[in-house]
Amino acid sequence: MYRTKTCGELRLANANETVTLAGWVQRSRKMGGMTFVDLRDRYGITQLVFNQEIDADLCEKANKLGREYVIQITGTVAERSNKNTHLPTGEIEILVSSLTILNEAVTPPFTIEDNTDGGDDLRMKYRYLDLRRNAVRANLELRHKMAFEVRRYLDAHGFLEVETPVLVNSTPEGARDFVVPSRMNPGQFYALPQSPQTLKQLLMVSGFDRYFQIVKCFRDEDLRTDRQPEFTQIDCEMSFVEQEDIIQIFEGMSKHLFKYIKGIDLPDFPRMTWHDAMKYYGSDKPDIRFDMRFVELMDILKGYGFGVFDSAGYIGGICAKGAAGYTRKQLDGLTELVKRPQIGAKGLVYARVEADGNVKSSVDKFYSQEVLQKMKAAFNAEAGDLILILSGDNANKVRKQLCELRLEMGNQLGLRDKNQYACLWVVDFPLFEWSEEDQRYYAMHHPFTSPKPEDVPLLDTDPGAVRANAYDMVINGVEVGGGSIRIHDSKLQHKMFELLGFTPEKAEERFGFLMNAFKYGAPPHGGLAYGLDRLVSIFAGLDSIRDCIAFPKNNAGRDVMLDAPGTLDQAQLDELALQIVQQ
Ligand code: AMO
Repeated sequence: MYRTKTCGELRLANANETVTLAGWVQRSRKMGGMTFVDLRDRYGITQLVFNQEIDADLCEKANKLGREYVIQITGTVAERSNKNTHLPTGEIEILVSSLTILNEAVTPPFTIEDNTDGGDDLRMKYRYLDLRRNAVRANLELRHKMAFEVRRYLDAHGFLEVETPVLVNSTPEGARDFVVPSRMNPGQFYALPQSPQTLKQLLMVSGFDRYFQIVKCFRDEDLRTDRQPEFTQIDCEMSFVEQEDIIQIFEGMSKHLFKYIKGIDLPDFPRMTWHDAMKYYGSDKPDIRFDMRFVELMDILKGYGFGVFDSAGYIGGICAKGAAGYTRKQLDGLTELVKRPQIGAKGLVYARVEADGNVKSSVDKFYSQEVLQKMKAAFNAEAGDLILILSGDNANKVRKQLCELRLEMGNQLGLRDKNQYACLWVVDFPLFEWSEEDQRYYAMHHPFTSPKPEDVPLLDTDPGAVRANAYDMVINGVEVGGGSIRIHDSKLQHKMFELLGFTPEKAEERFGFLMNAFKYGAPPHGGLAYGLDRLVSIFAGLDSIRDCIAFPKNNAGRDVMLDAPGTLDQAQLDELALQIVQQ
């Protein structure tokens, strides 16, 4: 037997027991005639003691142990004279009587400690060593627990987990596909699924009624902290349901996770229309841990000779409670922020509500106190508040800029506490998104999303105004999930394809299999998918989803540990009938 106990479980109550442990040498130190070794495994750290006076040879052997050696020891559990209150095993140590070196180790390129000296790139290259660190391992343990609780909840609600294939055809989620050449069909390619969307709809036609899958999805898109080229969805679909049924089941699942993982009982989630989210927060995924809604000021501030506002198509602002004490330097910092090319505002107007209730603004010469008081009332502002205003030609553009400013103010004022959770359903998304560049409509969610029945007549007259039966779940400003009620009527589906610019032939080529299946009795159905990585990273309070993925890719889509992607040798290229054209 390699071990009788783990390195995390021994306590004072085990004193005098003889135990065998196995693990990695975290560190060792020599103090006089004693050698202390911290032995680590997945479960914790236990202190080992070797005493020169009791067994000089054994102590000599211990002195030669290097960091990360894999060893096995047998010894007696003893009470420590110098207790470590930071360690669960800190009240005991093991007086070692035998030591076996199971494997030597070269010195790792960075320290395997909570605060490591290894930079990001180095840790990614040696990810298997990084995973030995507590913090990273804890994230994967959390991920396991969450996936387990998801399965427990969905199983209890009658969902069946069904695996769908990975070598498929292009799936319509709007990103580029990763493709795989087919050796047996030269010149032809599989596409990896961007999601199992069409397959889960087919499972509804098959009568599975309630499906789920914790599944890898692949999207070739620009990477960000909350995007990986391969990521995991909790993908779900249900038959004979309306939007409300789906919202109830999956709000229930989120509450279940918060309760069993975090011990938090969440109240019912508020709902916000997409229209309001854009109008008041400039985002379809507002962070509602804090208020700071936008207030429109066109009626109040236009027409007083301040050219910037007089010529603006939109003027709006936010009120930062208690921030009137912001210094000139801090305000300049905010101005610089909004003027960055990524945000693109021309400037920032600010106004402080002073202790006596008067408003002092950076554009005082254009506005009387009376007008400024009207503005103050529009914000419900009080003494000590700071009002920040942006303007521009295009309302949506300015709202996006205000959204960035609002989030920054939320950060600066400490209003975005990672241990606070604000969940929200965003509903009534538009069915289509107009692309100025391509002069055509795109599906905002995907082409199978159904319009709200009352908006169907608008498909012919004003497609841009049609609302979808689509919903997103947002937690702390992150879109963690989204879905829709699907179209199950083939006439409506064909109309949708037409509006999306598919010729009947193209629609048949891409989605004929689904339309054909629908002819055999498609139940009304709908579903949603959560991004598991995003959900775990919120529960763990992480800044990037990379930290809860065992072997993630970097921002260039590379796995630096495996050095993937890589080239193929000529024989393999020939076999796949592929030719590399040098750029
Ligand atoms: P959608 O495209 O909104 O919907 O994806 C669902 C959820 O998946 C997560 N997600 C990602 N996570 C990490 N990296 C990525 N690159 C990435 N892309 C998406 C997000 C998102 O909310 N088939 C539909 C769902 C449905 O209609 O049922 C779909 O895939 O958290």
